[in-house]
Amino acid sequence: MAEGLTKSAARNIFFGGSLFFFLLFAALTAHSHWYMVTESTDSEGLTESVKHGKEVWEENSCINCHSLIGEGAYFAPELGNVWHRYGGRENPEAARAGLKGWIQAQPLGVPGRRQMPNFDLSEEELDALVDFFRWTDSINTQDWPPTRAG
Ligand code: HEC
Repeated sequence: MAEGLTKSAARNIFFGGSLFFFLLFAALTAHSHWYMVTESTDSEGLTESVKHGKEVWEENSCINCHSLIGEGAYFAPELGNVWHRYGGRENPEAARAGLKGWIQAQPLGVPGRRQMPNFDLSEEELDALVDFFRWTDSINTQDWPPTRAG
């Protein structure tokens, strides 16, 4: 009997190990997909307006300065939870008015403070954006980002 590892044993470990981890990877990928679709996403709340809001968000490249659930640029505040921070869960009307007013009032022109440009958005685009923020706030992010300010 040969001492140590034979060639065929090494080959079996290599192929067996590769297969095992490939199957594990496939199972975890499937689980992540299942979790996103059924658990963490509020698919019933995905209205046309929310989708339109996401388009407005993309067309104006808001992500170039902001982050959404931690992803994006870190020049400006996290917006995935902005609906919550503006009190939308308690008082949706006031949060909507506050968010729209804020976006319309930019740039504030306060010296020494980071500025946000004015995007000249229509009422309909602003409402869609707010619906998009409201929807993002409903995603179960498992408390990510860890602080309210992102
Ligand atoms: C050039 C960078 C830049 C871009 C692009 C930008 N913002 Fe901002 N935004 C800022 C900055 C900076 C602030 C914080 C300003 C301050 O506190 O005075 C801000 C603040 C905000 C706030 C208030 C956040 C809070 O926590 O009070 C909202 C809402 C917002 N932006 C929405 C948007 C939307 C929607 C877009 C795209 C249409 C957008 N921003 C694009 C720079 C940007």
